[in-house]
Amino acid sequence: MTDEMSTVLPPYRIKVVEPIPFLTADERRAAYAAAGHNPFNLRADQITVDLLSDSGTGATSAEQEAAAARGDESYAGARSWFRFRDEVRDLTGYPHVLPVHQGRAAERIVFSALLRPGQICVSNTHFDTTHANVELAGAHTLDLPCPQARDLDSDEPFKGDIDLGALADVLAGPDGDRVGLVLMTITNNGLGAQPVSMANLEAVAALCRRHRVPFLLDAARFAENAWLVREREAGYSDWTPRQIATRAFQLADGCLVSLKKDGLAPVGGFIGLRNAELYAVCEANLIATEGFSTYGGLAGQDLERIAQGLREVVDVHYLRSRAASTARLATLINEAGVDTVRPAGVHALYLNAGRLLPHLEPAQFPGHSLASELYLRGGIRCAELGSLYLGAVDDEHRLLQPAPFELVRLAIPRRVYTDAHLDYVAETLGRIAKDPERVRGYRIVSAPALLRHFKVRLEPIA
Ligand code: F0G
Repeated sequence: MTDEMSTVLPPYRIKVVEPIPFLTADERRAAYAAAGHNPFNLRADQITVDLLSDSGTGATSAEQEAAAARGDESYAGARSWFRFRDEVRDLTGYPHVLPVHQGRAAERIVFSALLRPGQICVSNTHFDTTHANVELAGAHTLDLPCPQARDLDSDEPFKGDIDLGALADVLAGPDGDRVGLVLMTITNNGLGAQPVSMANLEAVAALCRRHRVPFLLDAARFAENAWLVREREAGYSDWTPRQIATRAFQLADGCLVSLKKDGLAPVGGFIGLRNAELYAVCEANLIATEGFSTYGGLAGQDLERIAQGLREVVDVHYLRSRAASTARLATLINEAGVDTVRPAGVHALYLNAGRLLPHLEPAQFPGHSLASELYLRGGIRCAELGSLYLGAVDDEHRLLQPAPFELVRLAIPRRVYTDAHLDYVAETLGRIAKDPERVRGYRIVSAPALLRHFKVRLEPIA
């Protein structure tokens, strides 16, 4: 009924609300200085619009909360577990399902069972915890994004794809025997929220079969990937998002899923597998480290919220309105004079800070400078994906090797902010873009050796 209209309506109305804080510019300046000029150190009650992550930050539905009230908290064999398991089996087709408290637990358990020291895990792009868990298993990561991903401005529809030629070369080359796993991240969070095409997944599946290498999906945003396939890939426009998602799972040997994104839940994840032996090894590890295999560290009420969330997330009206809202924000931001990685994905927009702030060297962290300015001007929290996060620095915190791009990610929580909140974000960016030379660079004051961006403290350069 709404299909012919240009206004895209979210398929819900709002029943429970939470107040958001409004601080003065002076209060924000003081709060940001006390936080060491690092958005991760801010308190949530100092933030007006929080776009730090789309993970675990979504709103639940009345049906999810009703289901949560029915949560069965039995230690083993709870009703809620069977509801969760059946929902996941039905969606993925995998016979073996293990619940975990979040995605990175799935990564740790599967990689420690599957990867041997010295082996290689190949991906379109590893997420940061995924990379860390591969390394913790003694193996190494290799990212092979498709060449189109390097052009931030092009409108190629599937810039999340893996470079098939490069993958084929690695598998057939001298390092081929060392490849212990091919992992496809859908959508590609590390590279502009770009989707992966079904054609690419099919080709990866065929290559992995030929070389007898396991092929898994990191499917945190499986529904959003399915939506973009439906919109952009020939032959899928009359498939439901759920059918597309199921088909994607069927192409792989298993999956690791953080349910804090497309599970529409504050917490949770799962491992889905075809192979019974691998499942048995993972189950033993799960019981020792996360919890019995019918709850995996989750409460019965969490399992219920997720089982219901997995139904709601593939709704056409929901996905259409979420994608439209993100695309609308991209248009507003671009019209305000700030470039974003194109084309717009669904869960996040990536601002091209390097282009907006050419007066700042990578060593002055232009991405971090723009993210800081968004907080100082508008109380908007987000984080950079640039040299602060990905660059190499020496012991004195001097930048040795910049990141390829200086980006800022605006991650959009699910069902939380209205278009008015997003208008406010675009207006704040528009004000910054009117005189970008005003934006100051930053230098590092102190930083931990590992996962620098979370705990780094900085100061503005005078
Ligand atoms: N894989 C991808 C693609 C992710 O984006 C994340 C988390 C994980 C795995 C790990 O899942 O957080 O449940 O342990 N991404 C969040 C983000 C943190 O903000 O992008 P987790």
